[in-house]
Amino acid sequence: MAFQIDRFTQTSEALEWGDLDLDEFDRNPLDADTLRLLRYMCDVEFHTVCYLRDMLVTPSHRDEDVATFMTFWNREEFWHGEALAAVLGKHGITVDYDQLKATRLKVGWRDKLDPIKQSLLGNIVGADFVATHMTWGAANEYSAAAAYQRLAATVDHPVLSPLLKRIAQQETRHIAFYVSQARTRLEKSAIARKLTRFALSNFWGPVGSGVMDEAEVQHMMTIFSGPEGRREIMKIDDHISRLPGLTGLTIFQDQLDKRGIPAA
Ligand SMILES: [Fe+2]
Ligand SMILES: [Fe+2]
Repeated sequence: MAFQIDRFTQTSEALEWGDLDLDEFDRNPLDADTLRLLRYMCDVEFHTVCYLRDMLVTPSHRDEDVATFMTFWNREEFWHGEALAAVLGKHGITVDYDQLKATRLKVGWRDKLDPIKQSLLGNIVGADFVATHMTWGAANEYSAAAAYQRLAATVDHPVLSPLLKRIAQQETRHIAFYVSQARTRLEKSAIARKLTRFALSNFWGPVGSGVMDEAEVQHMMTIFSGPEGRREIMKIDDHISRLPGLTGLTIFQDQLDKRGIPAA
């Protein structure tokens, strides 16, 4: 069934976490490893505005449904960041905006050039670029949802696990939008299928890999180590490779292998 954008905008809301007792973290604090993962996730959520900026200079923003979705999507991701920042705050870790800005600036010229490159490429390619953007978004959302679900399962914490599951639920709605857009657009155009396959197999990396240190990306990927983590990753590879023109792609497993994350 096609994604209903009106329904999405009518039901889009800030992540609900006011009912969760954050004081539980005083009694049952998270370990350093989990906090490091949460810090990564929190920063990436707050960096969503950078992805939005990059896309506003491409043909994607001229599509009414895409532009509408991205407006609400950006808000929802921001609220994910806020919820995670509150958990970090309970452990004495302050997520401040100046520090986030510094991370963005640290990536330097690459970051500054990205919107220009994407704009040039997007406007040369035209409407087919939107198919690539939508598929890329689907891959990012699949991996975000899988990471939250995985962490929720492994940490098994009375407050953090439900919070992460709620975030993952909203990520699932994002997946539905991107996948529905990607499928329709890839079905229509052989150029879109070729371009998307090329872009994903050559340039896709885990969410946040453009802005975070590689050591942090590597650490984040370890949540998928072992047979269960690998199984989750194979599942999302399977979803992506079922899209038109993407048969056989294993972009998520490739990223684990590239970083030596063990499957057993
Ligand atoms: Fe999110
Ligand atoms: Fe999302």
